[in-house]
Amino acid sequence: MSELLNGAKRTHMCGQLRAGDEGKRAVVMGFVAKYRNLGNLIFIDVRDRTGIVQVAFDSAQHEDIFAKAESLRNEYVVCCEGVVRSRGGNINKNLPTGEIEILADNLKILSEAEVAPFVICEDVKAAETLRLKYRYLDLRRAYLQQKLIMRDKITRIVRNYLSDNGFLEIETPFLGKSTPEGARDYLVPSRVHPGEFYALPQSPQLYKQLLMIAGMDRYYQVARCFRDEDLRANRQPEFTQIDMEMSYVEDSEDVMEIAEEMIKKVFSECCGLKFEGKFRRIPYAEAMARWGSDKPDTRFDLELKDLTQVVKDCGFSVFAAACEKGAVRAINAKGLGKVMTRKDIDACTDFAKGYGLGGLAFANYKKEGVTASFYKFLTPETIARIEEITGAEEGDVIFFAASEKGQLVTDCLGGLRCYLADKYNLYDKSKFDFLWVVDFPMFEYSEEEGRLVAVHHPFTSVKSADIPLLDTNPLAARANAYDLVINGQEAGGGSIRIHDPNMQQKMFEKLGMSDEDIKTRFGFFVDAFKYGAPPHGGLAFGLDRLVMLVTGCDNIKDVIAFPKIQNASCLMTGAPAQVDDKQLTELSIRISDENDKK
Ligand code: AMO
Repeated sequence: MSELLNGAKRTHMCGQLRAGDEGKRAVVMGFVAKYRNLGNLIFIDVRDRTGIVQVAFDSAQHEDIFAKAESLRNEYVVCCEGVVRSRGGNINKNLPTGEIEILADNLKILSEAEVAPFVICEDVKAAETLRLKYRYLDLRRAYLQQKLIMRDKITRIVRNYLSDNGFLEIETPFLGKSTPEGARDYLVPSRVHPGEFYALPQSPQLYKQLLMIAGMDRYYQVARCFRDEDLRANRQPEFTQIDMEMSYVEDSEDVMEIAEEMIKKVFSECCGLKFEGKFRRIPYAEAMARWGSDKPDTRFDLELKDLTQVVKDCGFSVFAAACEKGAVRAINAKGLGKVMTRKDIDACTDFAKGYGLGGLAFANYKKEGVTASFYKFLTPETIARIEEITGAEEGDVIFFAASEKGQLVTDCLGGLRCYLADKYNLYDKSKFDFLWVVDFPMFEYSEEEGRLVAVHHPFTSVKSADIPLLDTNPLAARANAYDLVINGQEAGGGSIRIHDPNMQQKMFEKLGMSDEDIKTRFGFFVDAFKYGAPPHGGLAFGLDRLVMLVTGCDNIKDVIAFPKIQNASCLMTGAPAQVDDKQLTELSIRISDENDKK
């Protein structure tokens, strides 16, 4: 039977009480986290989101309350009232409240609880799927509660900072038109307009630019975004951006500086970090050449070394063939020769196969000599050059990647350096590494679509020095775009936008869009620029990723109250799910069966 609070008021949160509160009366409310009956004494731990406090029931002092306490079980919801007293010799050093307990003289059982499907404790053993099904129970654990508490703190710091800097928080629609962030849209059928669909926003990109045209000057939003894309450890189908845009900026630095200050504030207030000087700015081309990634983790070395020129005419046909159109590059796994077994080296080869390479060549600089099957095809001069460039010496293993697709070589070695650094603990994981990647290329060529596609999005401006390249060599044109990278993760990105309608038109043309395409997809947007558009730019941070970085967790699900799993479903609610025929009929939707699909 559930009892009513009947006017009882909480005086303290469970985690608040300390030795200094001895002698005070306290009323705490929470869940029973532990129950021990010693015959004439019962101890329970009461848990709320601030922590745990021990409550004692003594049959010698309050027989009736003791009798009631005997019926308590884990996860019952209780209101306990009594006097705070010292635990004397039985201090629990592991609890902040461990010096005291409450001797209860009143107990209300606000809710009974069935035995939970798993034991709710910090070193929880239950499988993740079971915990996600009963997410509301898993969320009772301090580990997850701390993440959401930090998420709230970060959001508050951000809101205060942006408000102090003249940014207005403005909401934009969820039911809108498709936006161009490059993932698949989540579509919402319209009942009123049969056969027509809204697209949930992949980001508020178009709206925020229109807000600049509307004269709102500086905008931000803690914005939910929806992307139907393959999920990874740092991706969810619905996630949250700290989205911002500002008018009267022309230089990337104008936006980067204000965003950088915000990030510094978050990390200094949440992690106690101190910052000196600006974050490093690394051009995209350098990031790719040195670390094989546009989001390099520079907490460890393992830099890529280009050997294409050195081995292009060598006697090893695999290398020579790769150099014709592609590249040969290497990384030096410094000192790892001493710890890597042949099996470990084979694991690296398998890793490379995951990138579509045939494998990796390696040279193991052992004490007794170099093991490198292909060195026999190379001249001593070539080997000497390789050793000079890679810095190879005893104890090192050099991994070589070769392909006629240079990008594959870069991607593979970029991935391999992170794999090795993680596997062999090559860096201090408690350290933070902040950097901006700048000077992104404007376009890349999509084999699949047979045309240029925007690396960022089609509203990003080109560096003014590179405007002539749009006509002569568009792939060489650099964008006014920037990404903030923290510990090898893309925490945020943005750009200075095009605000000249002619330039926007040209950009769409470069992307192979016909006038008709432009009109149907972005007509309203292109039109807006005809009526006066301030120069503007902005960026968006992934809030979920920031919380992950601040709390040092590597699973995005841990920082979201009700996350989805890999296949984009929710184990708790069962979404997505079938709907009634009536709903489908209202929406003029018919589900095709297998025969229809054929
Ligand atoms: P972009 O697509 O780079 O830019 O997204 C900005 C940031 O959002 C985060 N992010 C994600 N987080 C979790 N799950 C996902 N599926 C996911 N996708 C992206 C990343 C990323 O850096 N409109 C532009 C910004 C702009 O130009 O102002 C945009 O959305 O941290």
